Amino acid sequence: MGLRNGIFTVPKQNLSFTIIAATATRRIVTSFENIHSFHPMNTTAPPALPPGCRLVDTHCHLDMAEYQADLAEVIAAANRCGVTKIITIGIDLASSRRAVELAAEHEGVYAAVGIHPHDAGTADDEVFRQLRELGAAPKVVGFGEIGLDYAKNYSAQEAQLPVFIRQLELAKELRLPLIIHDRDAHEDCLRLLREKGPFPCGGVMHCFTGDSELAEQVLELGFYLSIPGIVTFPKAESLREVVRGLPLDRLLLETDGPFLAPVPFRGRCCRPEHILHTAAAVAALHGVSLAEIADQTSRNAEKLFALPA
Ligand code: NI
Repeated sequence: MGLRNGIFTVPKQNLSFTIIAATATRRIVTSFENIHSFHPMNTTAPPALPPGCRLVDTHCHLDMAEYQADLAEVIAAANRCGVTKIITIGIDLASSRRAVELAAEHEGVYAAVGIHPHDAGTADDEVFRQLRELGAAPKVVGFGEIGLDYAKNYSAQEAQLPVFIRQLELAKELRLPLIIHDRDAHEDCLRLLREKGPFPCGGVMHCFTGDSELAEQVLELGFYLSIPGIVTFPKAESLREVVRGLPLDRLLLETDGPFLAPVPFRGRCCRPEHILHTAAAVAALHGVSLAEIADQTSRNAEKLFALPA
């Protein structure tokens, strides 16, 4: 290992040492944090989960076209890498229905149902009637992804707000934890979560990339923060800084596959097993072992989504 051009590098033969030796890793990370040049993506080429460990991909879109040619193999490959549970997320009625079907067809796959803010314009009474039915199906463990997206505004904000509110109420009625999508809509999102709460089943801010102030507010709501592969991107130093300060017992991990593949798969189809790279990056940031991050985030996911341990 060494420091080259201000970048912390670990030769390949030392990787298992980096991952397994938690104490040593903690020492290395601490010393390199000081010079502020720690880049997890340079220390985490193919991480392997120690035997007996598991990971939960809390947010993946297994229904999407990218996976359909070899979906069984996608799930099997994840299982072989220790990713024993995957929550496949609905974004509209069709994908929510497909999520329920996939959960019924595959062991270790669970479903979330909901209408993404991009599709808020399509959510009429009939959609809500069917969503309520789907939400009561077996292996549905979460309600989402729902929320507000003011970055793209594919649906008008005036359409997004009432659909979000109605889904918050439905999630409560169905006793499901919330999976929240918030893009450039922090103020409205947090306001509505406060106004319509408390939510006894809790929730998660999915694909969290915000600053520590936003993280603080989400934690105050009692919600979890789900860390995506973005944390491995070279330019995500500010996110890494935030993640360093987050409490481990409130973190979840996700791929958001097929999107947002972590380094070294960036730009390619993100598969659930790629979550190992995200987990390794978060472990390095916290100066703990991959096994510890896997165990803690899996227990968090099992608690929030009431998954079997
Ligand atoms: Ni998503």
